[in-house]
Amino acid sequence: MTDSAASAKPKTLVIPDAQTVTQVKHWTDRLFSFRVTRPATLRFRSGEFVMIGLMVEDEKTGKVKPLLRAYSIASPSWDEELEFYSIKVQDGPLTSRLQHIEPGDQIVLRPKPVGTLVHDALLPGKRIWFFATGTGFAPFASLLRDPQTYEDYDEVIITHTCREVGELQYGKELIDEIRNDEMLAELIGEGFHEKLRYYPTTTREESPKMGRITDLMRSGDVFADLGVPELTPETDRAMVCGNLAFNLEIKDMLEDYGLEEGANSDPKHYVVEKAFLD
Ligand SMILES: Cc1cc2nc3c(=O)[nH]c(=O)nc-3n(C[C@H](O)[C@H](O)[C@H](O)COP(=O)(O)OP(=O)(O)OC[C@H]3O[C@@H](n4cnc5c(N)ncnc54)[C@H](O)[C@@H]3O)c2cc1C
Ligand SMILES: NC(=O)c1ccc[n+]([C@@H]2O[C@H](COP(=O)([O-])OP(=O)(O)OC[C@H]3O[C@@H](n4cnc5c(N)ncnc54)[C@H](OP(=O)(O)O)[C@@H]3O)[C@@H](O)[C@H]2O)c1
Repeated sequence: MTDSAASAKPKTLVIPDAQTVTQVKHWTDRLFSFRVTRPATLRFRSGEFVMIGLMVEDEKTGKVKPLLRAYSIASPSWDEELEFYSIKVQDGPLTSRLQHIEPGDQIVLRPKPVGTLVHDALLPGKRIWFFATGTGFAPFASLLRDPQTYEDYDEVIITHTCREVGELQYGKELIDEIRNDEMLAELIGEGFHEKLRYYPTTTREESPKMGRITDLMRSGDVFADLGVPELTPETDRAMVCGNLAFNLEIKDMLEDYGLEEGANSDPKHYVVEKAFLD
């Protein structure tokens, strides 16, 4: 082929690590979730995150390159597809574009899962607390659907603090789905013996339980409402995922209860991960 014939040929964009979008659901004007096909070789532990993104043209060079961001996998490790729960930042380089994806579109997914919010980073315990704010709920959407969570603990408490009621809806529907799932419902039990406890709170819109989870712990409300004692290193384990200020504040509180931070290589009583970089 001559040079001129080669340049006349239409270019096909090759997307590295492409996965196809299968479902998109918009929850509020700032939040959406979506599902994509799962690479056959991808193995991950519930609670881990991967880098995902879109192919975007560089304004200066005109070159099309992957624009990637860290995302917690919201689906459990047994699921055939992968689910993500996302913010829409109107001027965000990725999410200003990602919020427009539709079934059939392709995204880039680097199949290298990592993260600290995994069961392996915690010592055995009786009760596990998942503390989330905003999209920090995503890793727990995975862990809450993992049978191991209920096999390892007698009690599983998920707290979710958001500004507004609509921002709790993804989590609320997920909890309903888990309670109605045949396999998980059997592990979780029913009524007085139910292992799963859901504690949603809002800070800027009226709801049945208002306040930051940190304040509600200090006042003792959370423990009174749930009928459980304050955390102790003997019985309690915790995973934390939210904004930086929240993570730091609750980390101090957990340390005051006597819990120590663990890691994959050194399991202890609690682990923390940022829901986004500030
Ligand atoms: C370990 C890790 C896991 C993450 N998992 C998720 C996830 O599951 N879902 C998700 O939506 N995001 C997640 N993020 C954040 C994500 O990587 C991107 O920041 C987000 O998708 C926005 O990308 P962007 O390019 O549009 O804007 P960016 O330039 O990345 O962010 C712009 C600004 O938007 C705000 N912002 C970014 N992400 C969020 C968020 N999630 N909630 C509230 N405000 C935010 C921050 O103020 C940030 O400075 C995670 C980040 C880390 C470090
Ligand atoms: N959510 C919205 O409606 C909205 C709208 C437009 C823009 N934004 C912007 O988007 C960004 C992220 O907003 P977001 O609402 O997703 O997340 P966020 O600001 O991290 O807030 C999520 C929840 O965490 C609580 N929180 C914050 N700091 C805490 C702490 N130290 N301890 C305990 N709880 C704490 C908040 O309570 P408080 O309400 O008490 O802070 C809120 O209920 C912000 O920069 C915001 O300005 C948000």
